[in-house]
Amino acid sequence: MKKIIAGNWKMNGDANSLQNLFDGLQNLKSKNTVIVCPPFTMLNVPAPSNVAIGAQDCSSHNVGAYTGQISARMLADIAVKYVILGHSERRLYNGEESVEIREKALRAIENNITPIICIGETLNQKEQGETLGILTKQLTESLPNGVPAIIAYEPIWAIGTGLVASNDEIKAVHAHLRTLVDLPLLYGGSVNGKNACEILNIKNVDGVLVGGASLKIEDFALIINANGV
Ligand code: PGA
Repeated sequence: MKKIIAGNWKMNGDANSLQNLFDGLQNLKSKNTVIVCPPFTMLNVPAPSNVAIGAQDCSSHNVGAYTGQISARMLADIAVKYVILGHSERRLYNGEESVEIREKALRAIENNITPIICIGETLNQKEQGETLGILTKQLTESLPNGVPAIIAYEPIWAIGTGLVASNDEIKAVHAHLRTLVDLPLLYGGSVNGKNACEILNIKNVDGVLVGGASLKIEDFALIINANGV
């Protein structure tokens, strides 16, 4: 089945390394939707036609005196098709709250950009058995009613740590999310070429959001082709 494979470059790379990734992706045959989300400064590096471009954030405003911010309207102006919103690193380091993420998602939709809204629990919340409650709250608060978003479940303790949620954990969370929304559901957190196939085969997993392993073509290609070419 066709899946969504999204790469989140975070604050890594440069125009040259992104060009290398694109060169490698250009000849890759895949039935999947491939999205690459580089930093803002590299959004103008020309992507091959089989790759869609996403940003990693946008403003909750369309225009105005907001120094340092970039609006969804500006992203649409350079043909950006997706935007990651509410990544746990932004929630943590930039104090982003779900209400603001919701506004950002509305601006994205208004500008024909699909938001990829991230939700996830901390290790402590998981250990307290709060996972589903936290995710329900984050989802209902961040996702505007009826918008065609993509949802990414990224357990915070699994991001960049090499720890991956077990198949049973992913299955249970995604089954729960499916009861709340009928939208594509991605899993993220230490996805790599070795575990991607198994994760993509879990029920209600419509794709993956990949950090570290999206930086190099060798690793990213394995994930893109993990469910067959
Ligand atoms: P990771 O990051 O794949 O490096 O764990 C995932 C993410 O933060 O989107």
